[in-house]
Amino acid sequence: MADRLELLISERRIRARTAALARRIDDDYRGRRLSLVIVLKGAVMFAADLMGHITIPFTIDFIAAASYGEGIRASGNVALSGLDGLAIGDRHVLVVEDILDTGRTSTAVLAALRARAPAGLALCALLRKPGAAAFDLPVGYVGFDIPPDFVVGWGMDYAERYRNLRGVYRLILAGDR
Ligand code: IMP
Ligand code: MG
Repeated sequence: MADRLELLISERRIRARTAALARRIDDDYRGRRLSLVIVLKGAVMFAADLMGHITIPFTIDFIAAASYGEGIRASGNVALSGLDGLAIGDRHVLVVEDILDTGRTSTAVLAALRARAPAGLALCALLRKPGAAAFDLPVGYVGFDIPPDFVVGWGMDYAERYRNLRGVYRLILAGDR
């Protein structure tokens, strides 16, 4: 039996919501030195769309976060790369993420960035699952709160697949039902 994909959030809804978040970011960061720190790889499509809607000046940097192994369960070990050379000392940093699941990745990312003493630090995620509430994260902007299902598309993968889907889809693996 093949894996099944069920549309959860359409491209049209994602784009409308992303534009609305960008308008809020414009308002909240006007007059401040804004730095977007984009977490590879899953956030690239969301981040690109978001960037195109922000009208105030900002810089971008990329870091990568990976929890070991490929599967639908995060292992809890988060490996970060790309932190060397980040110049965020006097900047208001907004971390751009694809999805907050357990919140472990964001917790690790924020701790690493906080150590570099930015002027401000907040999170912007396209999606949030219920489990992320367990960590007290400075989540400034969330696109959509979703059920605790595994999703793919709009940059997000399952074992590096499905990132190109134009929408967020629930992935039902063959054998799961
Ligand atoms: P957390 O550390 O549990 O919050 O997981 C965050 C990371 O795990 C995200 O940045 C994603 O890369 C990945 N992830 C968590 N849930 C999903 C999902 O439903 N689909 C695809 N990737 C996910
Ligand atoms: Mg991933």
